[in-house]
Amino acid sequence: PFRAIVRGCGGALPDRVVTNADMAKFVDTSDEWITERTGIRQRHIAAEGQYTSDLGTEAAKAALADAGMKAEDIDLIIVATATPDMTFPATASIIQRKLGAGAGAAFDLQAVCTGFVYAMATAEKFLASGQHKRALVIGAETFSRILDWEDRTTCVLFGDGAGAFVLEAVPTEDAGGKGILASHLRCDGSLTDLLFVDGGPSMTGTVGHLRMQGNKVFREAVGRISDAMVEAAEAASITMDEVDWFVPHQANQRIIGGVVKKLGLDESKVVSTIARHGNTSAASIPLAWSVAKADGRIKDGDLVIIEGMGGGLTWGAAVIQL
Ligand code: ACO
Repeated sequence: PFRAIVRGCGGALPDRVVTNADMAKFVDTSDEWITERTGIRQRHIAAEGQYTSDLGTEAAKAALADAGMKAEDIDLIIVATATPDMTFPATASIIQRKLGAGAGAAFDLQAVCTGFVYAMATAEKFLASGQHKRALVIGAETFSRILDWEDRTTCVLFGDGAGAFVLEAVPTEDAGGKGILASHLRCDGSLTDLLFVDGGPSMTGTVGHLRMQGNKVFREAVGRISDAMVEAAEAASITMDEVDWFVPHQANQRIIGGVVKKLGLDESKVVSTIARHGNTSAASIPLAWSVAKADGRIKDGDLVIIEGMGGGLTWGAAVIQL
């Protein structure tokens, strides 16, 4: 058996920043409402002709550089996205081409905002089995393309971006306790109506727009996320006190605050980028992680817990020893 060890990470954001004040010029909203309800102050929006695969490729290149590896070292690419470039081929295939990484397997994985947690857990299984050696796990989104810009209850919440991790399989006896120690994944398909896109290839033949009953999602969030974190921590045989960094999916500062309160976590250990990035769905965790690594907070030897919840409803958590 092998351990899936984090070797590098990187993020990518579109250049264009849209602040809450910019937003208020074309949507009936205010900086005060958005900031108070969500903690979001600005978001990045992709340029015309800039696709999910472009952001994912840029993040992947940054992660490869951080890991000191080349594209040809990679034999598995998993892209978590709910906003693929096209219905098919998978955005992972397009990113593989753009990176010039010709070998191995590549596929997309869809668990909306929980996508990155699902993708990390999936990559861990592929690497632990010995079937693959080095994986790029990418969360990449252009949610701006599926927002209804007339719907102020949703369009103010989301942004575009991508983040990526390089994972490597190392024999457990040589891993020094490092790696993805455990994950806990869940879905409750009876709650699909709370958060969905009202289009798709089979149902409408259109792309559709995001629809969300925000306050109902909010009510489901804190309990389910906290439960998944507790389950993942138990499976990893760690206590919450031992965790150095909590890197949550960045959906709403009030949800993050609720989880911190419920589990009695130390607020100074929370990585939050929601003010600057908004909710970038599957990209939010690796983007936030990359920021905290670049500014010197997350470092070698740290114990980190990640969590997400999103459409499906899906939710989950994972424990990672660096
Ligand atoms: N600007 C100003 N007013 C607004 C806006 C806006 N952008 N949006 C809604 N309002 C108004 C509403 O019309 C309502 O007015 P009314 O009382 O006159 O009817 C009032 O504000 C309150 O609306 P609520 O929906 O009750 O506001 P709430 O406090 O629930 O906050 C929010 C809304 C921010 C969406 C919150 O419910 C939330 O964050 N939910 C969770 C969403 C989430 O985390 N999703 C994550 C999953 S992401 C994924 O998987 C893709």
